[in-house]
Amino acid sequence: MRTTRWMDGSKIVLVAALAMAGCSEDDAGPAGNDTAGSTGSDASGSTGDQAATDGEDGSGSSGEVVPEDAPTWHADIAPLVSERCSGCHVDGGIAPYPFVDYESTAPLAQALAAAVESGSMPPWGAAVTEECSPPHGFKDDISLSADEVALFRAWSDAGAPEGDPAFAAELPPPPDTQLDPVDTVLQMDGAVTIDGTTDSFLCFSLDPGVDEDRYFNGMQIVPGNDKVVHHVLVYLDEDGETADAAGPDGSFPCSGGAISGTLLGAWAPGTVPMRTPEDVGMRVNAGSRIVLNVHYHPTGLGPEVDDSTRIELDWMDEQPTWRGEMTLVGNSNDPDVLLPNPGDRSDTPEFLIPAGAQGHLEEMVFEIPDDLPQLRVWSVGSHMHYVGTSMQIRFQGQGYDDCMLETPHYSFEWQRLYNFDAALDEMPLAIGGDRIYLRCEYDNSMNNPYVVEALQDQGLDAPVDVVLGEETLDEMCLGVFGIAVPSVL
Ligand code: HEC
Repeated sequence: MRTTRWMDGSKIVLVAALAMAGCSEDDAGPAGNDTAGSTGSDASGSTGDQAATDGEDGSGSSGEVVPEDAPTWHADIAPLVSERCSGCHVDGGIAPYPFVDYESTAPLAQALAAAVESGSMPPWGAAVTEECSPPHGFKDDISLSADEVALFRAWSDAGAPEGDPAFAAELPPPPDTQLDPVDTVLQMDGAVTIDGTTDSFLCFSLDPGVDEDRYFNGMQIVPGNDKVVHHVLVYLDEDGETADAAGPDGSFPCSGGAISGTLLGAWAPGTVPMRTPEDVGMRVNAGSRIVLNVHYHPTGLGPEVDDSTRIELDWMDEQPTWRGEMTLVGNSNDPDVLLPNPGDRSDTPEFLIPAGAQGHLEEMVFEIPDDLPQLRVWSVGSHMHYVGTSMQIRFQGQGYDDCMLETPHYSFEWQRLYNFDAALDEMPLAIGGDRIYLRCEYDNSMNNPYVVEALQDQGLDAPVDVVLGEETLDEMCLGVFGIAVPSVL
């Protein structure tokens, strides 16, 4: 439908990996770490308070007769919780309430129903919509169908019956939250203390110790102190230039632009270990260094030390047929790439989200250069800041001509890459001349709780015009792609 608006002469910008490193203090999160995922663009989302209060006694129906056909914990709910929730809601997991058994879960039945109905839980941004139904599903999809959401509601309404353990359904295994096996651990050398109120961006240059090119197919980034580690980007420093950059604490400052290199991966809350498709590996060339770029957000409650942020790698034994790369496309202010929108002050399209604008669109079209080899896309993600509420990524052309990802309730607090659940030769193909279309939607009004918080942080009480950039209240519109090219190139 929008294809008629795609512009000729548009061009691709394979934005240097730094574009993403430019997530400045704004990334600290107006919503704070403890409200992750509960609101997004959906102001009616359930809140943690509900879990703490409403859920105390199931639905308060103790003593009532449980309807015979009501769903039960053992038959219906436990399998869903195991597969879709227990990646985080376990003892020691990142979520505050462990749902480990009937006793720990039943009192919160009402909160569970509310959270899944509002869509705030489980945190999984990719959705199938009328406009976007990609032919492939995604791996490790933890989203719930409408019927499954209804089961949580019916279970809660019936008073959260336990059911008969003798008829317990088989529990699907919880999602892998740990990389296994791990061959190499590269850990920051030294300790940094994070204090005060200002965010900091520190880099650590690590020696992977490879004297001939090697490939890995699994990577996990482990934050050393998750009270202050806000997110981590991992780069390959191909020339090993950062070897001597570190100061006494092992770090060097590296906010926007201080390092260049190839993006290997990223961690944010909710990130699962990265696994490339079969026969695809990320190359670490001889003599290179691996750089961890860590965004620290102080707690405001006193100093915190991080001495163990690290990455774990699973190496491949041989050179794979395909080399994996992370590529960022977007963040353009080029009038040939941007489509016109109602916020433009002249006939020349510009990236400008006027103060107070709701449902504001910024759309970009990039053309894949002819000199790129044909490549497969195995992973896709969307990236905006706090004003962003929804994003869509499409390819148009001979290789793949369809929607690739829609994240209709985009939340900065929950970012992840979505990996296609298909064989590599069935994954979306990108061919020179094909187009990549990004549509980003923003709510720059006081109806957007993230905007309210971000303004408060700045001592402002009304929305301001938002432009493309890295500062607090600047915005981005960026597609993140895991791609595979022949490794012999
Ligand atoms: C990827 C990690 C993750 C998964 C998977 C996940 N949760 Fe959560 N959940 C969280 C975190 C983190 C919080 C705390 C967020 C906050 O404080 O706002 C949370 C909070 C909640 C809350 C408290 C109320 C709210 O909405 O914040 C409920 C209820 C809940 N989750 C239910 C579920 C259910 C049910 C599932 C599975 C169907 C699930 N969660 C899957 C991470 C997760």
